[in-house]
Amino acid sequence: MGWYLDLVFGLNEHGVEVLGAPQRFVIDANWKSGADNFSGDDYHLGTLHKSVWEIGAFPISFQDNMMGYHIQASPGHSLSFSMAPNDDEPGPKFFGYPERIAETFTSDRISEDQLNVARRSRVFVGNVFPNFSILALPMTEDGANFPPTAVLTIRTWQPVSEGKVEIWNWFCGYKNMNEEEKQRSYRAGLGTFSMGGSFEMDDTEPWITVGRTGRSTAAEVLDFKLNYQMGMPGIGIGHPVEDWVGPGKAFWTRYEEGVQRNLFKFYLDIMKAQPGEWPPLTFDEE
Ligand SMILES: [Fe+2]
Repeated sequence: MGWYLDLVFGLNEHGVEVLGAPQRFVIDANWKSGADNFSGDDYHLGTLHKSVWEIGAFPISFQDNMMGYHIQASPGHSLSFSMAPNDDEPGPKFFGYPERIAETFTSDRISEDQLNVARRSRVFVGNVFPNFSILALPMTEDGANFPPTAVLTIRTWQPVSEGKVEIWNWFCGYKNMNEEEKQRSYRAGLGTFSMGGSFEMDDTEPWITVGRTGRSTAAEVLDFKLNYQMGMPGIGIGHPVEDWVGPGKAFWTRYEEGVQRNLFKFYLDIMKAQPGEWPPLTFDEE
């Protein structure tokens, strides 16, 4: 997973800082719904977040945004890139950082491959097992007045009980952004990925209801099952790719749920492990 974190946080010698105190909020959901979502649940954007496009908060069409890779970095750790099919595609580069900042991104601290992946990426979203998530993407809280700019949020899904999670949500920016650029990014983040933000308000609602419905009498009597099969052989259009430059298992197009299965399989393996024992920590050990 470190290979991927470095290409988000280590693009120049200045590095990243948090922009202010974390926002904290509690919702009536299980912590795993956040981890599941940030492992690479991308296709919910076209339905759940349709209104966010309509107000111009996000600059990439749903269809284009589904192009990219799903990566199982190692057992438990999953991530996803929205990426143009080739380098010549117009549109945001480096998650939407201002050009002035993107010009300072080099391969001094990372490999050329890592830099190229970051350059082509419009969105990075990922979950460090079990409950630390990262999201970088171009957003605006006010599409009529401000163009989208890179928002970088890091968050923990801190369990309070099986039906309650406390979210700690920080916004970050590169240290060499000026005050105005940091403020723009922070405000864009607050307007989208915060408790009062357009995206987050959409997301928390189904996390609450999926847990409530799963615990219901109807679910028990009717033996409800969630369907996480997308991307398995013969199911959907996501498929494994062999020429991916980074570590882990990669799939092209983000219509794929292997990233979530990777999270839940490792969670299940840990829950079933005897005290003192660990499930395989690399795919090679499996
Ligand atoms: Fe969402």
